[in-house]
Amino acid sequence: MKKTKHKILDMLLKHPDIHLSGQKICDVLGCSRTAVWKHIKELESEGFKIEAIQKKGYRLLSTPNELSEARILVGLKTKELGQHLIYFDSIGSTQKETQHLAEDGAPHGTLVITSHQMTGRGRLGRTWSMPKGKGIAMSLILRPKLSINRIPQLTLIAAVAVYKAITEVTGIQTDIKWPNDILVMGKKIVGILTEMQTEGTNVKAVIIGMGMNINANKNDFPEEIRHVATSLKTLTGKEHDMSLIVQTILFYFEELYLRYLEEGFSVIKWMWESHAVSIGKRINARLFNGKVLTGLAKGIDEEGALLLEDDQGSIHKIYSADIEI
Ligand code: BTN
Repeated sequence: MKKTKHKILDMLLKHPDIHLSGQKICDVLGCSRTAVWKHIKELESEGFKIEAIQKKGYRLLSTPNELSEARILVGLKTKELGQHLIYFDSIGSTQKETQHLAEDGAPHGTLVITSHQMTGRGRLGRTWSMPKGKGIAMSLILRPKLSINRIPQLTLIAAVAVYKAITEVTGIQTDIKWPNDILVMGKKIVGILTEMQTEGTNVKAVIIGMGMNINANKNDFPEEIRHVATSLKTLTGKEHDMSLIVQTILFYFEELYLRYLEEGFSVIKWMWESHAVSIGKRINARLFNGKVLTGLAKGIDEEGALLLEDDQGSIHKIYSADIEI
């Protein structure tokens, strides 16, 4: 059930060219004029610019680039992904919170999101740092009926959804570095962390965490990561609508996920490979045990593992590693 505030925003978004009178909004939504005024004030405090003219009513002038729960939910074109949305003004780690929620039975599609994450976790035990209010940290619960060995494919689906959404919203073309980094000109703008909860050999839940650098300036990043990280703002010189980016990612993720369940991995594999920056190149793959494999990145297999051909012509399947190009 949508909140009254979200319904008011929905009405304003659908009528950008006319003023909606307080009375009209009351009549449609069955609430008092005071309630309408209170919700309008709340929307304004969240960054929505709303013109209020006596005897004419309210008109939405602009929406904020900052992340907004209302803006994500209103107009979200998914059936399930993100429809159960848990928004935090600030939080330690969305991934940690989502792990708990998944253990407690939160449904497929639950999304935990913030633009102020204080103790973000990255892959391979690393930290993920994000300048306050200028990026997106979100974790999504999926409950697929898939075997454990297919779960890495979900990371690749997430990567495809992210590059499609970023291109659609900003016009920027991105590259994917196996398995889960989204890069522009060799610098990272998005990191994806996939974790799962299992019971025996059954997958109970998969938690897909995404950290995205959107409106940060170069100097907002800690010095030690400035040479490897960038943001959409740094690349384009302008701020981007973070809520729209989230909506678009969720839309593509759901579309690709449902297609994958119906048709299998091959269509995703093709989309992923067409944006993969490492395929066909000589790479170093630093494995968990510290060993480094060097060779040609041939592609990915049907499970999403990276195929590396070493100098002796042997093919290695890599499931987890850091890749240097
Ligand atoms: C990587 O190492 O590249 C993956 C980074 C994943 C970071 C995201 S931000 C949202 C979610 N919450 C976390 O604590 N981590 C993930």
